[in-house]
Amino acid sequence: MIVERAPAKINLALHVRRRRADGYHELETLFAFLRDGDDIRVAPGPGRLHIDGPFAAGLDVDADNLVTRAVTIFAQSFVIATEYAITLTKNLPIASGIGGGSADAAATLRALARLNHIPLDHPMLFACANALGSDVPACLYGRSAMGTGRGEQLMPLDGLTDIPVLLVNPGVAVSTAAVFKAWDSVDRGPIGAGAILDRARAGRNDLEPPARALVPDIAAVLDRLDNTKPLLARMSGSGATCFALYASAADCSSAAAAVRHRHPEWWCLESTLA
Ligand code: C5P
Repeated sequence: MIVERAPAKINLALHVRRRRADGYHELETLFAFLRDGDDIRVAPGPGRLHIDGPFAAGLDVDADNLVTRAVTIFAQSFVIATEYAITLTKNLPIASGIGGGSADAAATLRALARLNHIPLDHPMLFACANALGSDVPACLYGRSAMGTGRGEQLMPLDGLTDIPVLLVNPGVAVSTAAVFKAWDSVDRGPIGAGAILDRARAGRNDLEPPARALVPDIAAVLDRLDNTKPLLARMSGSGATCFALYASAADCSSAAAAVRHRHPEWWCLESTLA
């Protein structure tokens, strides 16, 4: 018998880029995994799926169960017709955004791969995961990663281990499809200046920290610009020029005057966005 942990998944960030023609959504997301999760016990031999654990009551033992679907697709892909007795210990709440079902499917694939001496990085195992659901490849990988596409294109990200985390769920099941559908139904219309600025504020220039390390004056420039109460101040490109946006030309002029007064040695240009 093989015991396989199905760790809870969290998304440290999840950006929805757009709805695709196939109905799925292009994402940019940061996956991370907890040490805790569901448990899957797989034993070769006759038997069926048995579910126990605190959240067992919310799941049906039928062909739709992701564990059963994982067994079916694995058997079809690798042409292996062995029977398995599987026990799923459901410790994670159902439909709660932490990948429970996906983690169970991925853990089942891992267990079956081990039992059949198939390497865990076998491309067909990944294909099985991909066919079972958007989060299943990430759960098969099981370590922090950046996910793009439907979430199935993974770029490993190391260095997130041992960070304490608390999960809290209000006890309401949420359908992923319904949430994406609701995302679709929000009329985003033509995006206005206010919305663009909101997005810019929520973003950042990832080249700023290394540029600041090389050119400490960048920090001084940004401090000065932040003091002029701009709508937004950031370093541009790889630096060292920084920019600030203002609500009015008057605000921009008085900011320029203040900067020139304090730092006559800095280059300073007042302009407008085209
Ligand atoms: O891939 P999975 O079956 O887990 O996705 C469940 C539902 O969530 C899909 O049917 C789809 O409606 C939605 N979804 C999406 N875009 C993604 C992932 C899931 O629209 N990237």
